Amino acid sequence: MSKTKLPIISTLLNNDSLQHAGYLAVAKTRAKVLKVVSMVLPIPRPLLYVGEEACYELCDMIINEGSTNVFIATDEVLNKLGVPSKVTDYLDKHNVSYHIYDGITPDPTFAVVEEGLSESISNNCDSILAIGGGSVIDAAKMIAMSQGNNCKPQKLIGILKARKSCMPLYCIPTTAGTGSEATLGAVVSDNETHQKALSIDPRMIPLAAAIDPVIMKGMPKHITADTGIDVLTHALEAWMSVNASVETDYYAASATKSVMHYLPVAYNDGGDLKAREEMGIAAHYGGIAFNKAGLGYVHAIAHQLGAHYSIPHGRANAIVLPYVLDLNRKSSEKRLAKLARKIGIIESTQAGKSDKELASYFIDQVRALIKSVGIDPTVKGMKESDFDDIAKAAAREVSDTYAVPTYMPASGIKDILSRIKATSEKRAADDDSKNDKVA
Ligand SMILES: [Fe+2]
Repeated sequence: MSKTKLPIISTLLNNDSLQHAGYLAVAKTRAKVLKVVSMVLPIPRPLLYVGEEACYELCDMIINEGSTNVFIATDEVLNKLGVPSKVTDYLDKHNVSYHIYDGITPDPTFAVVEEGLSESISNNCDSILAIGGGSVIDAAKMIAMSQGNNCKPQKLIGILKARKSCMPLYCIPTTAGTGSEATLGAVVSDNETHQKALSIDPRMIPLAAAIDPVIMKGMPKHITADTGIDVLTHALEAWMSVNASVETDYYAASATKSVMHYLPVAYNDGGDLKAREEMGIAAHYGGIAFNKAGLGYVHAIAHQLGAHYSIPHGRANAIVLPYVLDLNRKSSEKRLAKLARKIGIIESTQAGKSDKELASYFIDQVRALIKSVGIDPTVKGMKESDFDDIAKAAAREVSDTYAVPTYMPASGIKDILSRIKATSEKRAADDDSKNDKVA
């Protein structure tokens, strides 16, 4: 090989489009495999109780299933607020023993799961009831799986690692967001590095869940907003996935419709039980939809923004979502227009418009919704020197796990990051000049 050819080869190897072609081939093959797996793998559904009595109905089921000592997994804040008391009062009335473990933290680590597991075993608990948001439910899934399989939680990381069923598991979500009570995955963080590890197994889907609006009504406004947009993102990414099906479309469209209508209501009046209930069902439906159709770039980039700049998951999704919708505008034009028609958000001024116009109208509505629930669309402290790492990790997450309508090269992800950074800096400058004028 002549020396003169080396720079050409080196240039080709570093060429973004060439690397993207390889990435594209791998990602598309994985997406096809995921589609087959999602079609073949039986994914159970939890029995769902909905309404102001849902908690009691779930407790009746736990009692009727023969549990005599329930391990209640929750977090310290919820326990201090007395949220589990609706359940514990009922269990007391029916002479059923329970043990409350409130040590679950946001983004639970293996140490947290192991501590919960040890408390469940030492207290001879025979069922687990998770009362909390996504972190609590994920930790409870891991505790239930570890106890049922008599193994350490680390052994369950990966796909289908369990040999036996988990201990009977029940969930009462306190936020309308992750839909974790419907999904076959749980995320646990490493004790030191806080790198996230995923366990995927349909055996961790709970036997039953209660969507109880009374439990959800105390959720603060900013959490209502963040988690609500997380639901919308699950639904939209599942809707736009190339692995979407008639079944996932039903759940994704239903969840989208509910969020567009009820999120502002729940945000403005947390005590509106109808809105809380509809948002709880939407979160559950979003979980069912992405269980099979998967997620996409919004989650992949949001996970990285969350890890680098400590942004709550739902808010990170809200920041990224409009940019990815814009990116998919062309490839998902028909799908977004179909969704806009299906959920009936088209105003009379939009009747008879083209798919292109309806897709744009829908994206505008999403932007307006995010704004209406007071979400700050900026990220503080973004550094261009982080962008390479973020783009690589996000691209890897997409090619490993999702089936997206448009695969973008790393430069595309970096472009989105640059736009978020520019918006954030402009907002900060505008705020500074407003403050100067006031001073
Ligand atoms: Fe999410």
